[in-house]
Amino acid sequence: MGCVPPAQVISPPPDGGAGATDACAADSGQGNGYSITPPVIPASVFASLSTGTTAHAELCANDRRHPNFPNDGDVFIRVFCADVDGGTVPNVTSLVELENLLGVGFADGGQPAFALLGHSSSLVSRFVSAINPRAILFTPPPADGSTPSGYVLLSYSRGDSFVEVAAHDPVLNQVVLYLVVFQSTCDASDAGCTPADRLTPGDESGWTGVTSYTAATEINDTILDCFQCHQPQGTQSPTLLRMQEINAPFTHFFSATTAGGRSLLADFHAAHGQAESYGGIPADQIDQSSPQLLAQLITAAGFGTQPNAFDSATIEAQVEQSAPAQPSLNLPAGTSPAWSSIYAQAELGNEIAVPYHDVKVTDPVKLAAASALYQSVQSGQQPPSALTDIRDVFLDEGVRDMGFAPAAGLDGGALLVQVCQQCHNSRLDQTISRALFNVQILSLLPASRKQAAIDRLNITDSTDPLMMPPPALRTLSSEERRAMIETLMQ
Ligand code: HEC
Ligand code: HEC
Repeated sequence: MGCVPPAQVISPPPDGGAGATDACAADSGQGNGYSITPPVIPASVFASLSTGTTAHAELCANDRRHPNFPNDGDVFIRVFCADVDGGTVPNVTSLVELENLLGVGFADGGQPAFALLGHSSSLVSRFVSAINPRAILFTPPPADGSTPSGYVLLSYSRGDSFVEVAAHDPVLNQVVLYLVVFQSTCDASDAGCTPADRLTPGDESGWTGVTSYTAATEINDTILDCFQCHQPQGTQSPTLLRMQEINAPFTHFFSATTAGGRSLLADFHAAHGQAESYGGIPADQIDQSSPQLLAQLITAAGFGTQPNAFDSATIEAQVEQSAPAQPSLNLPAGTSPAWSSIYAQAELGNEIAVPYHDVKVTDPVKLAAASALYQSVQSGQQPPSALTDIRDVFLDEGVRDMGFAPAAGLDGGALLVQVCQQCHNSRLDQTISRALFNVQILSLLPASRKQAAIDRLNITDSTDPLMMPPPALRTLSSEERRAMIETLMQ
């Protein structure tokens, strides 16, 4: 039985006030399957970051490699550090404003390229599906196939309270990542933010402030770290744009030109209708979502060879052969040997989680209920307070293969590798505290480090930012925690 808290609060007030997620956390991983309770990125993670002038000073510290800083920086620096050169830093109150400032907005006849994604393997994986997609708006790739410069990609999904940005620095010829955390009116209210505030068009405007961080500063040693995935080979290697499904038919992307893409669009419209914009993309454009253009930009930018790429054409063909109702119906689940071989790389801790083998990650029954509820609230038949967390629609039996939980039947050692090594390894930045716990040299670690890991594994309050693994990325059963603890005690 899933967890249905009485009054949902999806981002508790920053003082860590009791969110509904507390009540739910206790139940996760009980019973025979996994119940996907609304996962959390604890508000206290953001609370630990600097704010206001300190954050601005960090963002706008001149790296001395830009003689005309900020004017020869990437577009993000030019906009948000304008004051360094006597300009004004804009006061951003909505997503659309942010998109326009960065040159990927639709206002004033702007025509950015964009793609909507119905399943993510990133920081926001547990929040994204066809009903709450990840929108990526980006500079269109040069039509002549030349190498792009100064481009930007902006990514947003509802309910996260942040926007992710990748901007190309033309001077250093490298990708720079930014996290923009925004506050909304509801954040300051006693009740915190509810699904009606966060999972509707209302999330995209009415912002009371934004704070921006570069990936290279303090978010580096938090669970929001971008580099574990975008610079997986460590600090001396390039920062990558990522798109595991970089080849047609781009399995989890909305697209009117692929069978899977059309079935995801249908699921989206079943909840959001034909008249609702999403992520700043006008309603009448949603169906133009173009993974082709995203792949083209990422390839032209030099990232066409993706780590552990997901071979969409082969995997989709194998899945359909094993389960002919796919892609529109994802029960029974499909199987694919090509998928199993890339999954094995993630299981061995060499790669980040791979996308699910089937097009849809949603449970058809839960999705239909969430869509009907969303419709009835948006049309005024039910009050806003009736809206629950419509992101809680994942197919329970698929969560291991979606990468939200480890493979079944692993022993403690193998679990530590699959679940922890992505962030605790020898490749990533070794100068930060996270590196003190390195799964690749487990047998060499002093007892005190292993004890620290045991202590982290014993945390059960998912709003505690010290909980390991971070609940936004992985769910474990109590048996799995115990198996890992036993291995660490040896
Ligand atoms: C757990 C791995 C992971 C983490 C952590 C992560 N990303 Fe990503 N990111 C991805 C993947 C995978 C994609 C491709 C689309 C998808 O699967 O959602 C992506 C896509 C993006 C995109 C769209 C452009 C592109 O590269 O495709 C941006 C922008 C982005 N991430 C920014 C960030 C920022 C900023 C951070 C840190 C605050 C971050 N990411 C943290 C895995 C990650
Ligand atoms: C998504 C990335 C990520 C994953 C997955 C992850 N961790 Fe962490 N871990 C971090 C970060 C970031 C820190 C540093 C911040 C902190 O101390 O909480 C950290 C800190 C730690 C520390 C403290 C290190 C020290 O001595 O300061 C331990 C121990 C730890 N993690 C254990 C684990 C274990 C055990 C797992 C798997 C069950 C795990 N982590 C999975 C990101 C991760």
